[in-house]
Order: sequence, then C-alpha cells, then structure tokens
Amino acid sequence: MSLRILGICCSPRQGQSTFNAMRVCLDAAKDAGSQVEVQLIELAGKTIGPCMACNICRQGLICGWEDDFAEFIPVLADTNVAGIIIGTPVYFGGMTAQCKALLDRCVMFRRNGWLLRDKVGGVLAVGGVRNGGQELTLQSVRAAMLCHDMVCVSDGKDSAHFGAALYSGGPGGIEDDEDGLKTARNLGRRVAELAMRLYPGT
Ligand SMILES: Cc1cc2nc3c(=O)[nH]c(=O)nc-3n(C[C@H](O)[C@H](O)[C@H](O)COP(=O)(O)O)c2cc1C
Repeated sequence: MSLRILGICCSPRQGQSTFNAMRVCLDAAKDAGSQVEVQLIELAGKTIGPCMACNICRQGLICGWEDDFAEFIPVLADTNVAGIIIGTPVYFGGMTAQCKALLDRCVMFRRNGWLLRDKVGGVLAVGGVRNGGQELTLQSVRAAMLCHDMVCVSDGKDSAHFGAALYSGGPGGIEDDEDGLKTARNLGRRVAELAMRLYPGT
C-alpha cells in the first residue's frame, strides 16, 4: 500500500523556480517514510479556464469547460492521495491566475462528497524578492484548502510558520535561498508526517 502526496506547480513557466522548490519539498516528503509516494504535476502548458459557475458539477464530477482540467479530476479524487501541496509563484502579492483557476474548479470535489476532506494540505510560494507577498499568497491558497475541510499544516518544526516561502531573485536563484529551501523541506516532511498519522497502515 502507498500513501500518495501530490505537488501541483502553478507556474505558467515549466521547470522553473516553483517547480524546483516543489521538487525539494516532495523529496523531503518521500524521505519521511517508505510508504510515501510523490507525484509532481505542472500546470505549465495546460489550459484551465476560470470557473464559470455553470453549476453542471452539481450533477457529478463533470464540468462545463472542456479543457485540461479533465485530466486532473481522477488524479485529485483518488482516495490514495493523502496530501496535496500547492506551489505557486507570487504574482502581485497573490497566487497566479493558473492557481486560482485550478482552485475554483475544484469546487466539484466539495459538491460531490467532499472528496478532498481530511487530505493534508500544504502551500509553497516563490516570489522574486524576499518580502514580495509570499505570506499573503500562502494564506489565500490555504483559505481555499480550508473550504474543502482539508487539514492544513505549517512548514513544520523548526521553521514552522505559514508554509514554504522562497525567493528566486538572489544571485543564485532559489538554490541560494537556504532559509527558503529549509521551509520547503520542512513543509514536505510535515505534510508526509501528518498524512502517515492520519492514514496509518496505508
Ligand atoms: C505578473 C508578475 C507579477 C509578479 N509579482 C510579484 C510579486 O508581487 N512579488 C514577488 O516577490 N515577485 C513577483 N513576481 C516575480 C515572480 O514571483 C518570480 O519571478 C517567481 O520566481 C516566478 O516563479 P517561476 O520561476 O516558477 O515561474 C511577479 C512576476 C510576474 C510575471
């Protein structure tokens, strides 16, 4: 049996800072236990439109849009998924439009049996500067997770604040942001630790 932790990278740019930070985070999650399996998904290159409030999803796990969100429905609804970590660049002090569209479209899981309930939630934000709005961004993504009755964690001891917060604008990018990388590792480990406690035996 395995316990899966998903990392969803919401940058429009493939393989960049948020992706690399998420890899660090998921590596730490994997190292937390032999039963932990991780999956990194990128939204870059995908087309996910904003929720149009058409309410078709009140009839089931279906959506009025015919776009790439369809491939995420079975991935997110999978009962083997014990934790979800959302990673987003900071855009004007908040999450990217791609991230917001994904979160809004997830309303279907709430309307069809609260399918994300009790999954462990963690958030990672990468800004261009050290104090560019990472904490605001973490908070707004976490608010969406709470609306699903997910169990949100901090970045865990010994950094333990509001999630993983990194910045990419230093000379060496996130690779030189030791404090930020520590929060990414701690977040991954913390999500895995709590998932193992909530779902022992998987
Ligand atoms: C439209 C836009 C708005 C941005 N706003 C902010 C911001 O408010 N604060 C910040 O620290 N960085 C801001 N940035 C910089 C990005 O957060 C930063 O470059 C980040 O590393 C991008 O993530 P990525 O490398 O994974 O694409 C902004 C970038 C863009 C394109």
